[in-house]
Amino acid sequence: HQAETNRTDLMTITRFVLNEQSKYPESRGDFTILLNNIVVGCKFICSAVSKAGLAKLIGLAGETNVQGEEQKKLDCILVSEEVEEAIFVPPSNRGKYIVVFDPLDGSSNIDCGVSIGTIFGIYMVKNEAKVSLEDALQPGNQMLAAGYCMYGSSCTLVLSTGNGVNGFTLDPSLGEFILTHPNIKIPRKGKIYSVNEGNANNWDEPTTKYVQKCKFPQDGSPAKSLRYIGSMVADVHRTLLYGGIFMYPADVKSPNGKLRILYEVFPMSYLMEQAGGQAFTGKQRALDLVPRKLHERSPIFLGSYDDIEQIKELYASSK
Ligand code: AHG
Ligand code: MN
Ligand code: MN
Ligand code: MN
Repeated sequence: HQAETNRTDLMTITRFVLNEQSKYPESRGDFTILLNNIVVGCKFICSAVSKAGLAKLIGLAGETNVQGEEQKKLDCILVSEEVEEAIFVPPSNRGKYIVVFDPLDGSSNIDCGVSIGTIFGIYMVKNEAKVSLEDALQPGNQMLAAGYCMYGSSCTLVLSTGNGVNGFTLDPSLGEFILTHPNIKIPRKGKIYSVNEGNANNWDEPTTKYVQKCKFPQDGSPAKSLRYIGSMVADVHRTLLYGGIFMYPADVKSPNGKLRILYEVFPMSYLMEQAGGQAFTGKQRALDLVPRKLHERSPIFLGSYDDIEQIKELYASSK
């Protein structure tokens, strides 16, 4: 009988988000509806990606799927990697949330079937009566929620609304995301480093020294393994579960690195901190960055607490 109960007592993401909402009796449920709409968007992309119908994917980047479906009376501003300007929802239809998102991360990997993903973060507008671009340029430490969906061997959605990190796996037969990774905590130290070594010639000294320590440890510890998939969502998901460090450092060619602050650096940094890890830009805590432009980039080092401490020491001593 016990087994029977477990099988039907599934914790779906819908139930999970509603349970979270019940912790805020005064809430109107808008946030829950917004999150559930984002979940529907991820299911849609998961279905299109698994069919690998390239024509369908191109459709995804268009106005219809992402903007049309998502613009309920919830969003106020939408910021997408694929749209140059912020999308302001018409005042009559405006809610109080800002959604920043990378609809398809790791897009260079689509053609060869390697895992790709969607990344998102949610802010609240500062003043519903007076909404401006400033509302979309808030520091990451103002984010209310962040998450990603990884379209890989399984479709996994990892989410935090500020009370820890939880992972859900899509059961295609139910069309539901089931809680499979409750309360994810990143190992304090890892055995993996993840970086595009092809840029090594252009790295600064602290990054060069850190990678050297990973490959030729001086303290007798074993060398770390290098794992680099080239999709941030997949590299970060492995780092979150196995521990270690993911880096996209600055280099001579790109002094601000490559990853975009609003919809790649902030959501992944938020999740890392919620899971007991850290996220550092080479100069400061990543979530304390204040972006000046929507698609501004920043160097990023994120992952296991102790591993990030090491990179922080190297940057501190290089001053
Ligand atoms: P996107 O496909 O959204 O533009 O992001 C690609 C990013 C990120 O997914 C990944 O970590 C990084 O590009 C890989 O860059 P390199 O190929 O330069 O290593
Ligand atoms: Mn991306
Ligand atoms: Mn992208
Ligand atoms: Mn891109």
